[in-house]
Amino acid sequence: MSLRSSDETGRHDKETRRFRLRDADREAAFFLPFLKPRMTLLDAGCGPGSITCGLAMHVAPGEVVGIDLDSTRIETASRDGHHAGIENISYQVDDVTNLTFEDGHFDAVFANGLIEHLTDPGVGLQELLRVLKPGGVIGVRSPDWGVALLHPDTGALRDSIELRNRWQRHRGGHPNVGRRLRELLLSAGFLDVNADAMAESHGTDSGTAEGVGYMYSILSNPELVATVRDQGWASADEIERMRQAWTAWAATPGAFASFFWCHATGIAPVTG
Ligand SMILES: C[S@@+](CC[C@H](N)C(=O)[O-])C[C@H]1O[C@@H](n2cnc3c(N)ncnc32)[C@H](O)[C@@H]1O
Repeated sequence: MSLRSSDETGRHDKETRRFRLRDADREAAFFLPFLKPRMTLLDAGCGPGSITCGLAMHVAPGEVVGIDLDSTRIETASRDGHHAGIENISYQVDDVTNLTFEDGHFDAVFANGLIEHLTDPGVGLQELLRVLKPGGVIGVRSPDWGVALLHPDTGALRDSIELRNRWQRHRGGHPNVGRRLRELLLSAGFLDVNADAMAESHGTDSGTAEGVGYMYSILSNPELVATVRDQGWASADEIERMRQAWTAWAATPGAFASFFWCHATGIAPVTG
């Protein structure tokens, strides 16, 4: 039984549809060179599993497990994986900060868009290290909202990004975690840690429409609106001006926006 209201369900479904467009060849490109057939792999915070399916093809016939805290996402992932006829994946509800797997179960662990949501990212990364075999490989990828290229660039757009980030911090998340992935993997105990970043841009008509759709839905989220009101961060009119600023931005010929996604890889130490 879902405890969500129909509005919440609608927003959740929309977000799930956005995640479903992701795929391993793009989002996990930095990690694919580490993968080999027959590896066991964990996709932590797998969401609806579109990236997990691509990873499963790269390690087939190796066992792939996708885990997520959200049972509706796990249901979607299981259904999509089944329809795609991919046989080496299973999905389960699990918490990356307290995984049900024994030590050293996986050859590879991956997490896209997860670390920024963990109150203490170090706890999740140590748990991922625990379930990796000695010599196993980790790949993590997260956005960093501290840098945004915007054209046109207006105060209201900047204020809206700041508001979004403030809300994420208020909920225990980390909007600027991308730049810290290398440090976090080293602190958790991984070796041979390397990090890099890529821009994700909105520079086509469909891309600007997608960008404005995302910011509009964030700025209309009742939870954000209530928190902003309760904390006195902005008035309802100011939030409305921010929404309109994104609509005006997308309607500008030549509108462009670019945001950073960072990724890092590391190796579990071989002890003894
Ligand atoms: C932004 S989505 C990314 C989904 C997927 N990796 C992708 O890139 O399409 C983040 C996912 O992490 C899950 N999540 C958040 N905290 C978690 C935790 N402690 N353990 C497992 N999953 C978690 C959420 O339920 C959500 O589905």
